[in-house]
Amino acid sequence: MKKESRKVIIAGNWKMNMTPSAAKTAVARTAELTAGKDGCEVVLCVPFVDIIPAVEAARGTNVKIGAQNVHFEEKGAFTGEISADMLLETGAEYVIVGHSERRQYFGETDETVNKRTRAALSAGLKVILCLGEVLGERQSGITEEIVSMQTKLDLAGIPAEQMKTVVIAYEPVWAIGTGLTATPDQAEEVCALIRKVVADLYCDEIAEALTIQYGGSMNDGNAAELLSKIDVDGGLIGGASLVPEKFAKIVDAAQA
Ligand code: 13P
Repeated sequence: MKKESRKVIIAGNWKMNMTPSAAKTAVARTAELTAGKDGCEVVLCVPFVDIIPAVEAARGTNVKIGAQNVHFEEKGAFTGEISADMLLETGAEYVIVGHSERRQYFGETDETVNKRTRAALSAGLKVILCLGEVLGERQSGITEEIVSMQTKLDLAGIPAEQMKTVVIAYEPVWAIGTGLTATPDQAEEVCALIRKVVADLYCDEIAEALTIQYGGSMNDGNAAELLSKIDVDGGLIGGASLVPEKFAKIVDAAQA
């Protein structure tokens, strides 16, 4: 399969930004600016309380809505958590799992990332699985080992047929929110590695069909070059996704 036949996905990760009323306006504006841009899928992953108004504002447009986390249990005494079924019923289609901020600040491990991924996929959500090395790991020359290990652990036990609804986002932690972007060659090298690990775990066909995004200070100035790389099939965008005009320019860059 050629890169052109893979699904390109430009997804925003709003993180902890936007109240429900602000979300409504931002989703509507993003939808307006990206209308008819069918060269990629457009997704906004919003805070839990924004999902319902965001889904409402996105109805009938090409913008899809996602969440930023999901719990692995179906229900029960897990104060403050949200299940995959709850998310589905809100109209969310995607969920981000394993973001480095969850790993760093909320004790997320590859084991819990794997459990969340499995629960979300089984419920019928599409998962954007985030992984990537921290600065010290890159400086120590162990990026390949870390990313391979995360890919294997995070995907453990996921059946081949569910890989159709998995997207992997390679997010080097040192590039997130820092203004430091991986060079297009660095992004390509690691995205290609992830595809190879997935091919070894499953098969070439699944690996070739997999959408692999780059995330980390992607913006309207650097998106086109990053997205031109053969194994970079989209972006997961933080800061720039909060400004519909900037986000729409990244969507434009993905139209080629
Ligand atoms: P920034 O685009 O703000 O660097 O964030 C990237 C990110 O963490 C997306 O999930």
